[in-house]
Amino acid sequence: MNLQQIKQRFGIVGNASPLNRALEIAAQVAHTDLSVLVTGESGTGKEIIPQVIHQLSARKHKEYIAVNCGAIPEGTIDSELFGHEKGSFTGAAGSRQGYFEVANGGTIFLDEVAELPMQTQVRLLRVLETGEFLRVGASKSIKTNVRVVAATNENMQRAISKGKFREDLFYRLSAIPIQLPALRERDEDIHLLFRKFASDFADRYRMPAIRLTEDAVKVLMEYSWPGNIRQLKNTVEQISIIETERSIDGNLLRAYLPTLQEQSPAIINETSQESISERELMYKFLFDMKKDLTELKKLVLDLAGSNHEIALNADQSAVVNRIYQEVYEESPSLPTRMLPVAPVQVELPSKAHEAHEEFEEHIELEESLSLEDREKELIAKALEKHKGKRKYAALELGISERTLYRKIKEFQLGE
Ligand SMILES: Nc1ncnc2c1ncn2[C@@H]1O[C@H](COP(=O)(O)OP(=O)(O)OP(=O)(O)O)[C@@H](O)[C@H]1O
Ligand SMILES: [Mg+2]
Repeated sequence: MNLQQIKQRFGIVGNASPLNRALEIAAQVAHTDLSVLVTGESGTGKEIIPQVIHQLSARKHKEYIAVNCGAIPEGTIDSELFGHEKGSFTGAAGSRQGYFEVANGGTIFLDEVAELPMQTQVRLLRVLETGEFLRVGASKSIKTNVRVVAATNENMQRAISKGKFREDLFYRLSAIPIQLPALRERDEDIHLLFRKFASDFADRYRMPAIRLTEDAVKVLMEYSWPGNIRQLKNTVEQISIIETERSIDGNLLRAYLPTLQEQSPAIINETSQESISERELMYKFLFDMKKDLTELKKLVLDLAGSNHEIALNADQSAVVNRIYQEVYEESPSLPTRMLPVAPVQVELPSKAHEAHEEFEEHIELEESLSLEDREKELIAKALEKHKGKRKYAALELGISERTLYRKIKEFQLGE
């Protein structure tokens, strides 16, 4: 099958050389059993590659199973992939075959492979190296002959350096790496894809196809398309449905293209990863600060309520030491007599005791606005914003879909 036939058969539009290169590699390696790792930004069309490989291989009459590794809860993923024996965990009433058993002779597509939990990565490495695996709770290994194609839009080197992904497994999976180009690297394809989607939606909604004026084509080409083909497709669909005018000019098109700040983090990719860890750090910093402040307030109250010479007990000294450490580091010239003194028990007069108790209650109240409440609130907000779409909510929150799934259950958020 030549390149043109492959494109036709799988509905792939485009002629940019990095796309052609990716398809050529897929076709060439299809008849081998080598593992393939497909990489590329979100929305670049990674999901088509394993299908091309499977269909062009001798495995095409056997099973093709696509698994979204990010969507299966951590607790069940081993059993989904490798099966389990009766009684191997609570609720395992019978034994069950996993995908690696069912797909014997065929192909498994592990989508979002960077989301695999560590213990599953170990099992996967084993089956790739030996062609054998153990069902959960079994002691006898089973042989299987499965071709693995994996895909990810994550930066795998970063996942490895963060200890999130095993390096040996990465090399195993990427025996053949296939990189899909971003849409902005496919200048000659952008307008072609626009016209294809415009005509598809015209058919679907029984209306004339939208078309672009010359200046709109320029806007189309200059835009960065962070969500790639998926974003282009959605944009064409929106315009097709919303606009009554079929000729779309530059200004009108621009109104449908979010600028970077407005974009949903779901389509920002790399940048969203960065801003998320920054956000996590910010949260941690704010909570630490709030804790310090609360302790400091408490301490000041203790001291103010005391008629005695100012002296601190061990806990108080520790608080002051910690909070003022930085101040002293920055200004070593501060008089040392301001440094906390040796622990001495301070008797609080009764009035101060009352104020102290009141303050304790207040603190308790404040602390109920805990990290957990905030987290719950943020998750609910993200789910609402993305209309219950967990994938995008998880991206916005900077956590994996699996973690989100677990938290929804934990906080009983429902859908
Ligand atoms: N060359 C192409 N021609 C036509 N449609 C395409 C092409 N490439 C991708 N698409 C369409 O673009 C959309 C996104 O593709 P796909 O789901 O494969 O993205 P992805 O790379 O898996 O993204 P993610 O990493 O977010 O999962 C799909 O609707 C797909 O059909
Ligand atoms: Mg995908």
